[in-house]
Amino acid sequence: MPTFPPGPKTKLLGLDFPEKFKSDPLGTAAQMRDFGDLSHVRMGPVEWYQINTPDLIKEVFVSKSKIFGKTDRFKQILSTVDGQGLVLSEGEFWLRQRRIIQPSFNHDKLADYGRVMIEKTDEIISSWKNDQKLDLLEEMTHTTLGVISKILFGIDIGDEAKKLGDAVSTISVCLYREFSDIFLFPEWLPLPSKIEKHKAVAVLDDMIERAMIKSEKEGEHNTIIASILAAVDTEGDGKGMTREQARDEAITMFNAGHDSTAAALAWCWYLLCKNEAVYTEFLEQVDLLEGKPPNFIDLAKVPMAMEIAKETLRLYPPAWTVPRQANEETELDGYTIPKGSLINKFPYVIQRDPRYFDRPDDFIPSRFSRENESKIPHFAWVPFGAGPRACIGKDFALMEMQLVLIRVAQKFRFKLQDNKDIEVNPLISLEPKGGVPVVASVR
Ligand code: HEM
Repeated sequence: MPTFPPGPKTKLLGLDFPEKFKSDPLGTAAQMRDFGDLSHVRMGPVEWYQINTPDLIKEVFVSKSKIFGKTDRFKQILSTVDGQGLVLSEGEFWLRQRRIIQPSFNHDKLADYGRVMIEKTDEIISSWKNDQKLDLLEEMTHTTLGVISKILFGIDIGDEAKKLGDAVSTISVCLYREFSDIFLFPEWLPLPSKIEKHKAVAVLDDMIERAMIKSEKEGEHNTIIASILAAVDTEGDGKGMTREQARDEAITMFNAGHDSTAAALAWCWYLLCKNEAVYTEFLEQVDLLEGKPPNFIDLAKVPMAMEIAKETLRLYPPAWTVPRQANEETELDGYTIPKGSLINKFPYVIQRDPRYFDRPDDFIPSRFSRENESKIPHFAWVPFGAGPRACIGKDFALMEMQLVLIRVAQKFRFKLQDNKDIEVNPLISLEPKGGVPVVASVR
């Protein structure tokens, strides 16, 4: 008779749990933590576990990463958009694709990407006026969309911004709905939401096709799509990837690579507005650059930008849940975990655990200063995941966050339109509910 870790009492053989979770995922996950380091609930035929310590995160995501794979449901839903892209693929095929794509995210590329990040930020802020009301979630989304389109595809979205923005938000809403619904309808059913999703995917496919044709015609390699189309797996079979595979990787990076960064940036501004003293200190540091647009090297002169980015990702991790599935029977924390069990990690919960962070709900960027950061336990701060499947775009995103924060702070200071606390909205990314409405003042 197998034994299970502690967990909440449920009704109807646990079939009430999905509804409870859906109505308040973060609150439910926080309650699950109170049951112990490893907690458990049975939902009908599914065993659902939650890991609540850095050591268990390390075990699941690093030491036993081959046993704990992506979940069937995650793969089934996301593959309708991303095909066999990097977020979904597994085993030897994933490793090969990661080897081919990795050079596009190496440090020698970041200085060039940094220039694009500043150019696109300047385009957005050039239209802002003194005393203008803005929603910073929307503005940051336009900024990161412009950045990723240029770096991945060499496309200045300009007039297409609205069309692309609508397509990505439609995809995000449809995927979120599918992740939350218990029953999954087949993709071919002509339901309005399926039709809407397919149309939105077609908009992105059209952009990717144009970018591929352009890079093949012009033979230039300064976009990520051109690099991955031309690259070969030198450590493996010496071959490159097919056009279809390049499409899957491109759409994966496009979707993974902008809305989480946009949500994180919107939260950064919210937290700065709520913490005037930190905001003022940050502006003083930014002013040491004397208004010069920052580059990769300048980031060392404004260390608070990185500290603010990391502390915001602690309090509001865009990837608020990261699920896994046991591909074989295994053991965790002294319990036998049956094959097929779901294992969940909630960065939002662990990163606010008082066992690992003092005053866990307070915004204290200096936790991430050079002197203090080493005191944070390994695997207690995991906004970019952990182990071999950790985010390929981590350095890209952290650089983008710092550059955008500094560039915008050189030109504008914000005040919240309403000083009320903004609630979290756990969609595909953890968004601020209702955006971040501010009034901008020219500095
Ligand atoms: C603040 C911004 C970002 C956050 C919080 C974030 C978070 C994450 C997390 C948690 C994972 C691991 C998922 C898992 O283990 O199942 C991941 C994977 C991934 N991310 Fe990010 N990400 C961000 C930005 C980016 C950017 C800018 C790109 C690309 C331009 C990107 C591309 C990817 C890809 C391709 C993977 C899959 C990697 C693999 O499995 O080999 N992400 N991200």
